[in-house]
Amino acid sequence: MTLRRLHPGDLAAFQAYRHDPEVGRWQGWQPQTDAQALAFLAEMAACPLFAPGTWTQLAIADDLTGQLIGDIGIHISADGAEAEFGFTLARTAQGRGLASAAVRAAMHLVFQETAVQRIQAQTDARNAACLRLLERLGASRLGAIETEFRGEPCTEIRYELARRPPPSA
Ligand SMILES: CC(C)(COP(=O)(O)OP(=O)(O)OC[C@H]1O[C@@H](n2cnc3c(N)ncnc32)[C@H](O)[C@@H]1OP(=O)(O)O)[C@@H](O)C(=O)NCCC(=O)NCCS
Repeated sequence: MTLRRLHPGDLAAFQAYRHDPEVGRWQGWQPQTDAQALAFLAEMAACPLFAPGTWTQLAIADDLTGQLIGDIGIHISADGAEAEFGFTLARTAQGRGLASAAVRAAMHLVFQETAVQRIQAQTDARNAACLRLLERLGASRLGAIETEFRGEPCTEIRYELARRPPPSA
């Protein structure tokens, strides 16, 4: 897989997985109309990367064909010290380690390009694939909060990936 900017040509692939109820089951977003999705893709193609206080959504693409297979949202806090990730992979691309590779690549990119010290991600406790992914990447579990998701009580678990200090000489 490769990370790249989203663009309007991704519309069909983007809409296919964003309208898959299984993929959206634990996600905060809702499926959009084609017009809304096209405007979003155009905005993400042109927005500055990693501006403090904003979300940037990057494409996860098949590295041979360039075809969109998922996306990763990256929010940089207003003070630039923290980031938050949210990620999604089309069902056809799941179970092959591609999401783990994408989150790892995004983590390296953020630590390389910004002054972010900590990256957080949160997930519903029932989202087993996401919990496994974060634990496989060595994220630390910060804690759990009882909250509500789509009108139902749920437990949300928060994880953190910290910037590692450079190896001492
Ligand atoms: C969360 C989500 C991205 C995880 O995708 P995934 O494909 O399960 O995750 P990975 O890419 O890490 O794939 C891991 C699986 O591929 C397998 N795999 C195969 N080759 C692999 C490799 N080279 N490296 C790592 N894993 C590999 C592993 O065995 C693993 O299976 P397991 O988790 O059952 O042990 C995906 O389920 C998804 O998009 N869900 C919907 C959106 C969502 O809920 N997002 C999270 C909220 S932020």
